[in-house]
Amino acid sequence: AKLAVFVSGGGSNFRAIHAGCKKNAIHGDVAFVVSDKPGCKGVEYATENNIPVLAYPRGKNAPEGISPTELVESLRLAGVEYILLAGYLRLLPSELVHAYPRAILNIHPALLPSFGGKGFFGMKVHEAVIRSGARYTGATVHFVDEKYDTGPILAQRVVPVRVDDTPAELASRVLKEEHKLYSFAVSALCEDRIFWREDGVPIIRKSW
Ligand code: GRF
Repeated sequence: AKLAVFVSGGGSNFRAIHAGCKKNAIHGDVAFVVSDKPGCKGVEYATENNIPVLAYPRGKNAPEGISPTELVESLRLAGVEYILLAGYLRLLPSELVHAYPRAILNIHPALLPSFGGKGFFGMKVHEAVIRSGARYTGATVHFVDEKYDTGPILAQRVVPVRVDDTPAELASRVLKEEHKLYSFAVSALCEDRIFWREDGVPIIRKSW
């Protein structure tokens, strides 16, 4: 399956998925990278690996220089079937969300529906988890809707919070699990192993 990955930062989840595709653990191919941060490491990595990049500078509401219609067209032209948000910090235009139903995933560095939503990004998530006194956190992969972090949950992984954790230590422990969890979820997506329960909850099948 052809994949587009959307990045705004370090791109370590993108790299993990790309590596999974290369060694055939994921039956997919990263055909396209989209970024609102033309200079970010994720874009650098894509360029080094000859993956086409569509980068535009951050605008306030709509991406500057490209309309949602043009974005959807570019993705379709590249043959993209699934979209993976990997540290992408913007809301997707609703046109894009509707153009790719049940085909867009995001990864969030906490156990949704806790510690998600607008304002919960980057280190802020881990600071809030530590401040709350929660003993466990984790990572969540979910389908994307038009809001932040509210779409159907597909997969989760638990990570313990240590009593003396700093947000940075916790973030790096969670990030390692993110790489495994996202690869697991994307491989199911590419192999069409996701089944939708009647109440709208997506379930990963081990095999058919
Ligand atoms: C990850 O923690 C992800 O959950 C969050 O942003 C971070 C991105 O890291 N949405 P990277 O760019 O994949 O290294």
